[in-house]
Amino acid sequence: MNAINAITIALSKGRIFEETLPLLAAAGIVPSENPEQSRKLIIGTNRPDVRVVIVRASDVPTYVQYGAADLGIAGKDVLLEHGGTGLYQPLDLKIAKCRLCVAAPVGFDYAAAVRRGARLRIATKYIQTAREHFAAKGVHVDLIKLYGSMELAPLAGLADAIVDLVSSGGTLKANNLTEVEEIMPISSRLVVNQASLKMKRDLLQPVIDSFAGAVQ
Ligand code: PRP
Repeated sequence: MNAINAITIALSKGRIFEETLPLLAAAGIVPSENPEQSRKLIIGTNRPDVRVVIVRASDVPTYVQYGAADLGIAGKDVLLEHGGTGLYQPLDLKIAKCRLCVAAPVGFDYAAAVRRGARLRIATKYIQTAREHFAAKGVHVDLIKLYGSMELAPLAGLADAIVDLVSSGGTLKANNLTEVEEIMPISSRLVVNQASLKMKRDLLQPVIDSFAGAVQ
């Protein structure tokens, strides 16, 4: 765990960081730099006892699980893949909203393929969530793990369909793909290290309460 009298918050760059700024402000915390413009990975704030560490979105739960960060903000998609071990998840922050979907090339009759029991090749970085989804539906799949640009897989002949996040739908459209099934709505959650919460409740609870108030 970090210093007993200080708070470390794990955040990822991009949309989650931008949408977290108002929540931090509600807790009286203002980062001193924008990670988009700085290469620094540890960013101070207006509060001497609060710092932000900038990590990959999929690494946020790991930093919080091991207590390298006391708090973190991560998408439900990332938390489901991680499994959530050792993490207290007190709040849906209702930011970075999107949905996890199955998408396929326009013209591919996904429903018919499922009905006739075809074995589908699915490319995704969400292996656990995809496995559970297709198993619950009784759909036979071969899952292919990718780390990004899932939309390319059906176009290049690597997979029949993908499981990926969809927000505006622009990326699917630009690549002649279409959403064929929604798996679940996604938003970002606050995650808290369980030991930190016990040991530093006086420091952490006001931040959690301010976030909760700002979400309302
Ligand atoms: C996400 C997702 C899609 C895209 C969807 O990728 O993987 O590619 O956004 O957004 P849209 O429906 O508004 O077009 P992101 O840009 O977050 O990068 P990633 O591939 O690293 O996840």
